Amino acid sequence: MVAEAKKNIEKVFEQQRKFRKVNEIVEKYKYEKSNLIAILQEVQEEYRYLPEEIMTYIATIMEISPASVYGVATFYSQFSLDPKGKYEIKVCDGTACHVRGSMPVYNAIKKKLGLTGSKFTTEDLQFSVETVRCVGACALAPVVLINEKVYSKVTAEAVTIIIDQLLERSGEGEKN
Ligand code: FES
Repeated sequence: MVAEAKKNIEKVFEQQRKFRKVNEIVEKYKYEKSNLIAILQEVQEEYRYLPEEIMTYIATIMEISPASVYGVATFYSQFSLDPKGKYEIKVCDGTACHVRGSMPVYNAIKKKLGLTGSKFTTEDLQFSVETVRCVGACALAPVVLINEKVYSKVTAEAVTIIIDQLLERSGEGEKN
């Protein structure tokens, strides 16, 4: 019994070391349940998504059920439970963009990044791609956002050139 308790305590300490940044965020918000959304927002900024083990950890240290944390994370569309890339590509698929060819653009991005089936993030976590609803720039359709920068009247060809430039930039970043 004592050995098991010791093991559990060690496990918590190990997690605390691993999730030091999460601890800082939760502490900043004083472990207040009413601050859960703000906590999840900051954690997501740090990790670019909400990994399951982190949500469970947050639930443990805030003394709330993992289901509550998971419930909040899945209720709000701003939260992602899947890993996001360094470059987050959002292809608008609202009506205007759809009519003007957003899907060929989206497919060209997936092809360029080698993302097949339900894979939306590259293995190296450099790129992720998703479709979003109307972003309110219909006159510029089809619209693609990359880390919130807006690209207008995008074609399949143009988007592959943009990705090439980003890949080049990433490569240079790694060299430096
Ligand atoms: S439909 Fe794409 S910006 Fe409106």
